[in-house]
Amino acid sequence: MGLSLYKGGYRLIMEEKNRPKHIGIIMDGNGRWAKKRGMPRTFGHKAGAKAFRELVKHCLERKIPYLTVYAFSTENWKRPQEEVDAIMKLLRDYLDEAFQHEDENKDICVKVIGSTGPLAPDLREKIARLEEKTKGNTGITVNIALNYGGRDELVHAFRSLAEQIKEGSLSPDQVTEDLISDSLYTAGQPDPDLIIRPSGELRLSNFLIWQAAYAEFVFMDVLWPDFGAKELDQALEEYAGRSRRFGDITAAKS
Ligand code: IPE
Ligand code: IPE
Ligand code: MG
Repeated sequence: MGLSLYKGGYRLIMEEKNRPKHIGIIMDGNGRWAKKRGMPRTFGHKAGAKAFRELVKHCLERKIPYLTVYAFSTENWKRPQEEVDAIMKLLRDYLDEAFQHEDENKDICVKVIGSTGPLAPDLREKIARLEEKTKGNTGITVNIALNYGGRDELVHAFRSLAEQIKEGSLSPDQVTEDLISDSLYTAGQPDPDLIIRPSGELRLSNFLIWQAAYAEFVFMDVLWPDFGAKELDQALEEYAGRSRRFGDITAAKS
């Protein structure tokens, strides 16, 4: 779909029925962005963190109720320690800042999804405090996927269901698609309608694999730190033009 955004596309995007309720973003390309500038990878992560802060504002303005960003995968521990530490530091900074600038963040409910057990105790504490403090905010829910892996999430869910079966509080025939969805970190939230991956890579890299069953995908060549309002609107326009049939022969009514 062409970029007719400023020739009427914006109206199309803003109509509620054409707007995704949940957007997932794989924030990829920070390292390449830094390399192009002859800078260390950590410089790219810093710029990526800035793009993330801006993105939340753009989504709030566009009345997107749920946003999930992929910040650190269960596979990203393979990276050099220095890089892992730098990413964790940026996350700490974000959590601290969100806590301090309460007024600016009054519409944002922050939730960290992923396995928080292996994270540093101070980081876990900051996460718990911010989640508690922002849980009543209703503008947008921002899930930060941190030490997140879709397969790991399913393992956790299946273990919890297996425990309930073992205890006798659940029977195998009560295990349904809905129950599995409700056992994930995203329990109670709608599945992502739109998943955006910048950086030119054409893969999911273990992101929301269960929840993405019927998501629309938009892959873009831009590197994450350069992703701004214009790129978001391009993706939203592309989404608004898709025909979502969910197996039927006509587009679903929303
Ligand atoms: C995404 O950018 C950030 C994380 C995975 C934490 P990358 O660091 O993967 O950037 P590229 O893909 O190497 O350019
Ligand atoms: C996916 O990006 C994870 C995040 C953006 C946090 P990666 O850069 O880790 O993915 P691969 O290795 O290219 O699949
Ligand atoms: Mg990458």
